[in-house]
Amino acid sequence: MPTKVPQPIVDRLAEHGQSHLCAWWNDLDDAARDRLVRQIDQIDFDQVAHLVGSLVTGDHAAPVDASQASPPSKLERLPQSEDDFTRWDEAREAGLELLSAGKVAAMVVAGGQGSRLGFEHPKGLYPIGPVSGKSLFQLHFEQLEALSDRVGHRIPYFVMTSEATDQPTKEYLDDNEYFGYSPHDVYLFQQGWLPAVDADGRILLADKDRIATSPDGHGGMLRALSRSGLLEVMSDRGVETVFYHQVDNPTIPLCDPTFLGLHRRHSSQMSTKVVAKRDAAEKMGVVVDVDGKTQIIEYSDLPDDKAAETDGDGSLRLWAGNTAVHCFERSFLDELTADGSPGLPFHRAHKKIAHLDLQTGEVVEPEEPNGFKFEQFIFDALPEASSALVMEVDRATEFNPVKNAEGDDSPATAKAAIARIHRDWISRVGSSVAEGATVEISPLFALDVVELEEKLGDGRRFEKDEVLEPPRVHDA
Ligand code: UD1
Repeated sequence: MPTKVPQPIVDRLAEHGQSHLCAWWNDLDDAARDRLVRQIDQIDFDQVAHLVGSLVTGDHAAPVDASQASPPSKLERLPQSEDDFTRWDEAREAGLELLSAGKVAAMVVAGGQGSRLGFEHPKGLYPIGPVSGKSLFQLHFEQLEALSDRVGHRIPYFVMTSEATDQPTKEYLDDNEYFGYSPHDVYLFQQGWLPAVDADGRILLADKDRIATSPDGHGGMLRALSRSGLLEVMSDRGVETVFYHQVDNPTIPLCDPTFLGLHRRHSSQMSTKVVAKRDAAEKMGVVVDVDGKTQIIEYSDLPDDKAAETDGDGSLRLWAGNTAVHCFERSFLDELTADGSPGLPFHRAHKKIAHLDLQTGEVVEPEEPNGFKFEQFIFDALPEASSALVMEVDRATEFNPVKNAEGDDSPATAKAAIARIHRDWISRVGSSVAEGATVEISPLFALDVVELEEKLGDGRRFEKDEVLEPPRVHDA
């Protein structure tokens, strides 16, 4: 590394008012200089200037006009009538056929750390099995394995990581041999990042040799998929529909055949599962119609009075909470990533960002939000879809995410939900679990209550904590 900052870098930084990024060059050794230059090389300064102008220093308009929002109209509510049940059963059969024909892939966005949980690792590694202590990842992989066996076709799994989660996720999955999944059916790919800026649009340094960055949001998935050539891989594998989920929900039925079938039946390009929001203040995006288009307004963008509006019977008017479970047609992902496609809008998040004080050269941990991060949300693709279906699902069985260390949506509530769901299955097949005991059913033992009935028979009584697992090969 030269002793002076390379001239092209000096010029680029000066042109964009970011010269402070190399202010500590003389304090850095060669390796640190090299690191810094590599980071600077990856920044699209024109894009940063545009984001700052539109989202930080400019008048920052809400991405969707919430005042015009009404409840979603293209909607499959939970089945009530005989006809509804028949339609959902038919959809389930159609979904199973798609899976058997190898037309479905699964995708998980796992770029987030478990910091909100006080867990300084990728969130997917968080132990959540109430008895087994299996991680979120393990439960997801086991579910896909069991479903693949059932439909007779290995479902490819696309796992999106971020700069922070990529290496530890790879190591974890390698160490655990992909929980029995073939590595050929698992595709890890990494989302991009953007620099964080202060209120004047100056890029923040995390240290003398490091820019403060943040992942580009799950909407960055589109860029990452196309850059890594994985859309072609999907096409080569004959994938037509992609089932998308977040890593944080252990009770989500992966590649739910009914969802896949309804998505197809409605010729939807992008579909979304919703649950009724618990209350107006719940931190869930709401699925709405605006100007005849299905869209999602993130909770941070929904004014309190709008969130609190009720219908005549007192129920929330904008009730449809986004579970962040979607289906995409692969061809729609191709359209969204095609040259000339406008791309998804960016959102800003006002955050506390640890940074280097430009006067003192010391790292400061701010007490108040001091900077901005930029993200794209994958659900902003919804209004681009020529047809978008919204499907309501049962909250108690399907939506039990792990978000907070304590209280609602915490490890305690998610573990309790798994225990409750499995206790219910066991009682429905005529067996029982003693008060105070927990029986956890591995997806590899039974994926649903029908399979449990075949495997377990009836009249069993469980007195203590237990995990129901299939017999290991050498035990059989
Ligand atoms: C998210 C949704 C919210 C929805 C709720 C349901 C967004 C912006 N909001 O809120 O509408 O009601 O889930 O549970 O999504 N992730 C990445 N890369 C990123 C950012 C996030 O992979 O750059 C992943 C995380 O690992 C996680 C998921 O996306 O799996 C959700 O991100 P998070 O920031 O936790 O969103 P929530 O506030 O939970």
